Order: sequence, then structure tokens, then C-alpha cells
Amino acid sequence: MSQLTRRPRRLRSTPAIRRLVAETRVHPSQLILPVFVADGLDEPRPISSLPGVVQHTLESVRAEADAAAAAGLGGIAIFGVPDAGDKDESGTGGYAEDGILNRAVAAVRAETGDDLTIFADTCLDEFTTHGHCGVLDADGAVDNDATIELYGRQAVSQARAGAHFVAPSGMMDGQVGVIREALDLAGFSDVGILAYSAKYASAFYGPFREAVGSSLQGDRRAYQQDPANRREGRLEAALDELQGADIVMVKPAGHYLDVLADVAAASQVPVAAYQVSGEYAMIAAAAERGWIDRQAALTEAVTCIVRAGADVVLTYAARELAGWLR
Ligand code: PBG
Repeated sequence: MSQLTRRPRRLRSTPAIRRLVAETRVHPSQLILPVFVADGLDEPRPISSLPGVVQHTLESVRAEADAAAAAGLGGIAIFGVPDAGDKDESGTGGYAEDGILNRAVAAVRAETGDDLTIFADTCLDEFTTHGHCGVLDADGAVDNDATIELYGRQAVSQARAGAHFVAPSGMMDGQVGVIREALDLAGFSDVGILAYSAKYASAFYGPFREAVGSSLQGDRRAYQQDPANRREGRLEAALDELQGADIVMVKPAGHYLDVLADVAAASQVPVAAYQVSGEYAMIAAAAERGWIDRQAALTEAVTCIVRAGADVVLTYAARELAGWLR
């Protein structure tokens, strides 16, 4: 057997050699922590389907942002959770200056300044009584062109509140272009756009819907992409790049590594991937039962997302990962 010239195992034989030849390294600075900030809370409230994740108060999110900056994370992605009574048909709470999302953005910016990059969720679903990502037309369908005008207003309000990036997640056609124009006209040409470009209508958003108290009946298949489609992911990312996206994103991440690799190969701008609530929750739940090793599974999942081509990863485990990667 000594005539075997190629023995790939040689490069796996010690931890030091494995580290030496690892093709993929995950660094805390490429991780973004998604957080939820709820109106009218006295103290943080756990989210049952997202173990370890809470709805924050305006106070506690500041502490979370501090900890994220201290851990060396790249950024924080902020989602607002309004009082149920503050929702309406057109999601005005999403762009009101004193809406919970804009107050949260301002609070975090006051706390961490430029040390932590702030991404504001630019979407209306948390703020609409029907739970859809935009306004409805007479037939009850989401009205694309009326909705993107509102996204433009929302993005400007978020820039005013202190967001470094706005992050349109509603999958309306032309949303990035309208937002870019609105930001520039309002004097915010330095505020960037992280575009949720290839976002699929996924069952893995389940725990997020609990986290934001979603009012959605039905689904988002008339605007989010069909999980069966791969080529379309490239098209969506290319269109967003043309409209001025600074970073394009694929979402979910773990089951969409083919789409992610396609987008990464074609993109001229950095590529992000979102390890969504269901991806995180499945690992967390299995680990709670002792069926899987939490640290090993989360580290592997995020490493594989980076291996597939993500420059940036949104993950609920960002802070924990930063500690493990140290
Ligand atoms: C919509 C939005 C969703 C997520 C991020 N932004 C939910 C949806 O599209 O239904 C899901 C994120 C996750 O599951 O972690 N504003």
C-alpha cells in the first residue's frame, strides 16, 4: 500500500495542520446580529420558538448593541415590534418618526455610534393589520408600485434616525431603485442599501413570525420567490445591483447554498446570507434535547454558508459565535 502517492489524510492529521490549510475562516467582523425591539415592554421578553433570543426594550437593546460591538461583530439588524393596536392597513408605524423601529435605531446609534454598523429593516409587515409586506389593492393583492413609494419614505425616516444601511426585505420589484433615489434626494447619499435580493417564500421563517407578532394570514408566495427556482436568484441579485444595492443577500441560507454560490460568482458587490429563524431554531431545539452539539452545529452551519460564498452572515448566534471563534 506504500505506493499510494496521494494521501489527503496527511493534511488532516493534526489540529495545527487542519488550521493551516482551512479554506474558510469565519471572523466576527463579518457577522450581523438580528434583534427585535418591542414597544411597550418593561423588560425583555423571551421568544419561545427562538431559544436565547428576546424581544428587547429600548433599554436592553442598547446593552445588546454594546455587547455586540465589544464582541467585534460587524453589525446589528434591527426589527421593530409595534403594539398590536398601532398597526394599520398601510403600516404607517413603520415609517413614523416616533415608531418603535426608528426609536430603536436612534437608541442604538446613540449608544454605539459608528462602532457597530446599523441595518434597519425596511418593510411594512410588522406594522400592517393584514401582515403583508406592503399595501393592498382593491383585490387584496399587494400593490407593488404603491408599496415601494412607502419603502422610500420608510428608508428616509430610518436614515434620519441613524441607520448606516437600510435593508429592504419586501421583495417588491424596483424597491432598491426607488429607495436609492429617495435617500439621495433627501441628502442621504452615504446611507447604504443591503438588499434582500433572493428571498424565498420559506417555511423557515416560522419563529420570526412569533418574534414580531405577525398578523399574517396566508402566505407571501405572490411576492417572495418559489423555493423551486434557482436561476431566478441570480436575476434578482443582478437587478438589485443595477438599481444600486451596495450588498445583495440570499435568504434563507442553509438550504439555499446553490443560489448563494451562483450569486457570489456573478456579483460585483459583497454578498450576504441570512441564517433565518427556523434554521437557528432547529439547531437550538435539537441541542436542547441533547440530540446535537450546539456549538459544533452552529459553527459548522455558518462556516458552510461562508464557504458557499457569503461575505457577510446574519445569524441569531452571532454573539455566541464570536466568543467561540476567539
Ligand atoms: C419580513 C422579514 C421576514 C424575515 C426577515 N424579514 C419574514 C418574512 O418574510 O415573512 C425572516 C427572518 C427570519 O426568519 O429569521 N420583513
